[in-house]
Amino acid sequence: MSLLEDSLSRLVPVLLSLCLTLGSVQSQGSSQDAFILQYLERRLSQMEERLSQCEQSTSSVTQKTYDLSSEVRTYLSSLSVLRSEVRTQVDGVSVRVDRMERELEYLENKMPTQSDIEMEEALLEQQIKAAELDQLKKKAKIIVENDCSTALTQIKSLKIVKKAGDTHGSWFKDPSGQSAKVYLLSGVRNDTLLEYVSLQSFSERTTSSSAKVVKLPSHWQGTGHVVYNGFLYYHKADTPNQILKVDLSNSTVVDNTLLQGAGRLPVYSLNPDTYLDLAVDELGLWVIHADPEYGGNLVITKLDKVSLAVEYTWDTQCRSHDAEGAFLICGTLYVVYNTRYGGRSTIQCLYDIHDTIHSNESPVLFFPKRYTSHSSIHYHPGDKQLYAWDDGYQTIYRVETRRNVQVAAE
Ligand SMILES: *[C@@H]1O[C@H](CO)[C@@H](O)[C@H](O)[C@H]1NC(C)=O
Ligand SMILES: *[C@@H]1O[C@H](CO)[C@@H](O)[C@H](O)[C@H]1NC(C)=O
Repeated sequence: MSLLEDSLSRLVPVLLSLCLTLGSVQSQGSSQDAFILQYLERRLSQMEERLSQCEQSTSSVTQKTYDLSSEVRTYLSSLSVLRSEVRTQVDGVSVRVDRMERELEYLENKMPTQSDIEMEEALLEQQIKAAELDQLKKKAKIIVENDCSTALTQIKSLKIVKKAGDTHGSWFKDPSGQSAKVYLLSGVRNDTLLEYVSLQSFSERTTSSSAKVVKLPSHWQGTGHVVYNGFLYYHKADTPNQILKVDLSNSTVVDNTLLQGAGRLPVYSLNPDTYLDLAVDELGLWVIHADPEYGGNLVITKLDKVSLAVEYTWDTQCRSHDAEGAFLICGTLYVVYNTRYGGRSTIQCLYDIHDTIHSNESPVLFFPKRYTSHSSIHYHPGDKQLYAWDDGYQTIYRVETRRNVQVAAE
């Protein structure tokens, strides 16, 4: 464009000068006319040439502009092709996303979610458990209805028998039959048991010679052992939940079992070394453990004392937190709580397998006024006594019971 303007701006003065020249030609003579005409012709042809040049350059500029614009147009069209391609792709993707979302929504509506399935499974499991429990309760009622119906009413008195062994340990009598023997297992891990012929023999000052030292086939762990009918039942050390039954007459293992699900938590939070607590009551042999799947609550399992087979299992609502021990009387679990620093022990939770005594109906039962820290408590159904290990002291609590029916009638 600027080239065209340039050409025109040069052309205009030339044409002006031509007109002036023509005016002056008429006033002069014809001799000069020919010369001027020639000159003019020359100038005209020059002008024409320049015009054509100008035209050419203009057309070249136009051409160039045209080329450029066509180039741009091509580019633009290819861009629009690209854009439409992209748009098509985007549209395609968004269509697929929409479809997927709809499908997901459909599936979500049509099928139950994963958590629903899990909940249903848990519900089913719960129902099965409840059914099993019902069956077991019936069974338990049939077995024990007539021969055992007493409830603990009071921890009556305390007798400190001796101070022997470690700060932690267990001691007890064989609750079966008429045996007067006393057994002592000091510490929370060992393979040696001391056996005394009687409580009197045990309580005498010079007892070291009177004890029979029994070397066991393998180490025990914790403080939850019991002797029943001349057999020692204990948690085998370095196993999560293996229970051994050892004949004390020749120290041989006669049976063993794994208590499924047990051994993942200490039974009582205040006694972190004991994972399985065995107990004997009027009904027989029990194991108490804490189950993390039930919020760390205590679970009681009735074992066949001969074969160690699990007879039935009960999930209690009694917590293991701040518990230091527990025992069973006539199929009712009594859980003893204390504080980390040692204090006055109290029974704050009980669980009756017959469902006739309830925690919320029973008052808190206090142990005699004394600062204590029990590492084990064993009930003796014949003596109606608790054999406890209190910070290295072997102590006996006398308990008072009453007929369970009275509790149920209240
Ligand atoms: C095992 O117990 C015996 C007898 O109570 C005791 O003399 C011994 O030191 C104990 N061993 C360990 C490792 O505690
Ligand atoms: C251990 O003693 C019991 C009963 O006294 C007997 O039946 C058993 O065979 C004995 N075991 C061994 C290995 O001596």
